[in-house]
Amino acid sequence: MDDKEARPLQGKKIIVGVSGGIAAYKAPLLVRLLVKAGAEVACAVTEHALQFVTPLTLETVSQHPVYSELFDHANPHTTEHISLKDWADMMVVAPATANIIGKLANGIGDDALSTLLLSFRKPLFVCPAMNTQMLEGYAYRRNIDYLIANGVNIIESTSGELACGTTGNGRMAEPEAIAERLIAYCSQQLPLAGIRVLITAGPTYEKIDSVRFIGNFSTGKMGFALAEVLARRGASVCLVSGPTHLTVSHPNIRRIDVVSAQQMYDTASREFPQSHAAILSAAVADFRPEHAADHKIKKQNDQDGMTLHLVQNPDILATLGKMKREDQVLGGFALETDNEVENAQRKLQKKNLDFIVLNSLHDAGAGFGHDTNKVTIIDRQGHMDSGVLKSKMAVAEDIADKLTALTEVHR
Ligand code: CTP
Repeated sequence: MDDKEARPLQGKKIIVGVSGGIAAYKAPLLVRLLVKAGAEVACAVTEHALQFVTPLTLETVSQHPVYSELFDHANPHTTEHISLKDWADMMVVAPATANIIGKLANGIGDDALSTLLLSFRKPLFVCPAMNTQMLEGYAYRRNIDYLIANGVNIIESTSGELACGTTGNGRMAEPEAIAERLIAYCSQQLPLAGIRVLITAGPTYEKIDSVRFIGNFSTGKMGFALAEVLARRGASVCLVSGPTHLTVSHPNIRRIDVVSAQQMYDTASREFPQSHAAILSAAVADFRPEHAADHKIKKQNDQDGMTLHLVQNPDILATLGKMKREDQVLGGFALETDNEVENAQRKLQKKNLDFIVLNSLHDAGAGFGHDTNKVTIIDRQGHMDSGVLKSKMAVAEDIADKLTALTEVHR
């Protein structure tokens, strides 16, 4: 999965307000993090902020002009603060000095940023940064309490060394922490916010000796696409992955790498009780060598063959089906060649699933290794949705729709 696909702020337009504190030098880093997470960012700054950070830096990282003048002499009729507030979905002021917080709490608009703030009626985050005495002073406390009471989100300052040489509370929260808060806020508005989903993906490798294994051609693409789509919808995803070259970067995905079916079984059965739902897409090896040699098995010159004795691996999906509580949703995959629908329905019943995703091996472009897939989603009530051949991301969206509908029942 490349970076472009892991963009939790995709489609969001954010104004970063910068006021005149030393922490303004960290504002470009925050802008960069937000842009990297998929947001479009424009900066509005005070005159004092420009003592600490240049407009060129902010313009370069945001790819937008910086709004700093209340009256633009080149365009005297400009109402930038009006159009900018309409353009944005949310705004964050980082750093927010005691001065800008005081202006906002008391309705003072005497420059570009404070005027914009007074007219801004959408989600607003403020990241205070000042010395400890100012932070503890009654004027600031009254102002910040007033902002909180009026729905402004405060990203609290932290303790540490301050620019004035003292140590105490007043350091602006780190850009990474601010970006994470904005991402978490945006995720909460998503349909699967608060839902924990377990996904298994990829192949398993069953060790023969120290250099050989039994594996399969699964690449993990379907399971990784599912994890990504569910995370973008706000779910907290635990992705248990067999060996694969794929990577994830969405902050809602916690990845646990395993190698063998037994390890996948141990991890999945440990994670399932804390999950609201699980979708098992891994191509788990049904058998493993009974004894794995811890050295490389040598061939003997007089040997004309070799016999490996295999034993059955535990069925992870069937085990989770037995563990499943009333409030949990469980989905699996079925790869079938004959009597596809009947076999999938039988698997759904036998493994106590809520839905099953039927993959047909008859369709060109579907299944292992391809970027596309063609599936039929069958649920316990007998509903059947047959899709066309589409990208694995688009198939993942269809499966996520099913999961969203089924988990809604328990909310
Ligand atoms: N699965 C599992 N653990 C196993 C084998 C399979 O969790 N040891 C899961 C897969 O992740 C998939 C589903 O079971 O979601 C179906 O796997 P499949 O190989 O199609 O079916 P099997 O149950 O193994 O049955 P058969 O091989 O007889 O078709």
